[in-house]
Amino acid sequence: MDVAMATAVAVAIAAQLYISPIPEISTIKVLNTYFFANAIVLTSILLSSSKIIPSFARIIILNIIFLLTFITLTLIRRLYFSPLSSFPGPKLAALSNLYKANAYRTGRGAKVLLELHKKYNSDIVRVGPNELSIRNVDAVEKIYKGKYPRGTFYEVGAINGAYNLNTQRNYDIHTPWRRIWERAFVSYEFKDYNPRVEYHVSKFIEVIRKTDGKEVNVEKLLENLVFDIMADLSFAHDAGMQDGKGDNEYMGFTHKYMFAVGVIAALRPLCQLLPLLPEAADVKDFRVRGEVLLANRQKLGTSRKDIFSHLLSPDPISSKILNQKDLNSNANLIVVAGSDTTISTTTQILRILAKEKRVLKKLQDEIDRVVREGKELTVQTTTNSSYLNAVVNEGLRLCNPLPTGVYAGTYPQGVTVAGSFIPGNVQVMVPHLALMTDERYFPKGWEFIPERWTGEWSEGVRERRAFIPFGYGVHSCVGKQLALNEMRLTIAMVVREFDVMLGESYDEERWEAEWKDHAVLQIGKLWVHFVKRR
Ligand code: HEM
Repeated sequence: MDVAMATAVAVAIAAQLYISPIPEISTIKVLNTYFFANAIVLTSILLSSSKIIPSFARIIILNIIFLLTFITLTLIRRLYFSPLSSFPGPKLAALSNLYKANAYRTGRGAKVLLELHKKYNSDIVRVGPNELSIRNVDAVEKIYKGKYPRGTFYEVGAINGAYNLNTQRNYDIHTPWRRIWERAFVSYEFKDYNPRVEYHVSKFIEVIRKTDGKEVNVEKLLENLVFDIMADLSFAHDAGMQDGKGDNEYMGFTHKYMFAVGVIAALRPLCQLLPLLPEAADVKDFRVRGEVLLANRQKLGTSRKDIFSHLLSPDPISSKILNQKDLNSNANLIVVAGSDTTISTTTQILRILAKEKRVLKKLQDEIDRVVREGKELTVQTTTNSSYLNAVVNEGLRLCNPLPTGVYAGTYPQGVTVAGSFIPGNVQVMVPHLALMTDERYFPKGWEFIPERWTGEWSEGVRERRAFIPFGYGVHSCVGKQLALNEMRLTIAMVVREFDVMLGESYDEERWEAEWKDHAVLQIGKLWVHFVKRR
């Protein structure tokens, strides 16, 4: 080994020390330094030699030596010398984020986390070089309190060039945005939204009536319903999905977009390079559709009462206003957050009602009582139905649309959770599926027992703080009330008129296989019969 080669090894060791603190330094900085150093070395070799080809060959050899040393040291450090080395978890996960990206690619993200907590019999498992999954209620308040650092996962916001409310990690920007968003969901705004939700849900019931008891994929019908509501309340747009004249491809693009988000978000270096790369066709298709919806909505100004009348108005405290780029990214957020979440949860609840005749019958009895009292089924009259709320809660617990949960970074001083110290700047998440099925907090955690929420079986909820279907803290779901209104009314109106039965095409194995956690849950077709009640 000559002096230059020994220097390449020494530089690799120095570079390793440079990137070793948690969080690892940004990929852009590492690449800039790498290419800059290469340029200097190449120039000095060329200056000292007149032969071009041997000079290039030499620099390639030096690079190979550098990279091999650097990568080997990175793997050794991640495995044995990281502050997270003491946490149990798969070695492959400790070595590379590819482990987690692959879990999202296969759609098994949250299930993988659940299996790891069981396998290692530990509340905390290491799921990435700089990432821990925590299955303990103690973590909820400690991790998500105050303006907690958001996980690096949300750097994926750059996938289409701009951050939205959910991916915005800078609180100087998130806080005024959040105030603007919250104004769209204060209780008095619902007097304008509720009649429109009721209108679309009645159409949904009409569509079901027309199936005349024949087998139907209700997931698609709910997709149409929820999309119509979302388009109407957000963009003043008649999407016409329930009338059979809408853009049937839109949700397909949304799903492809979310698939890309899940995988890329798990690969932080790639996230950081995204703005420099050409936009993927699927992402573009999704983005442009949202921008067209928004452009049409903007022509109506702020007089039309809907969610965008608020997003187009300034924050009253800071007077900040969303610029066009921010509006575009937030428009696309509404499409994802406001549709897939409610579609998958409601579909899964209907599946459970089709399987659990006892629950369906009890729910029908409650809704029948509301009607017998002379009340029409509306958002308002279904708000306080206790068993209905319990069914929805149980659905949100077991069938949560964000089963992996929300990504945070630990505060720089670190945090002690469930008796273990976690260093600062580590990405952590409290996985919704694993937490909300934990027997310590919800006995018979995998069973659908609404009575745990009605007081009839109060031992069924041992730890209310572990129920976080809408997240916790400053980034928790801003559309919660709308989601609950939609789900309650839809379920109430369906069970009032119909019995729900699984169809012949329904296949339990296929259903399980089509359950895909791509950061936001995607589910398969649900074949059912809606049989008119006598
Ligand atoms: C079953 C239905 C729903 C569930 C379970 C749900 C759940 C959640 C969760 C867990 C978060 C936190 C995500 C995070 O911190 O990264 C969230 C955020 C959000 N949700 Fe929902 N959601 C639902 C429906 C809706 C609807 C109908 C809207 C309407 C537009 C909506 C809008 C949002 C927005 C804008 C955020 C981002 C808030 C922020 O980062 O400050 N969600 N939701």
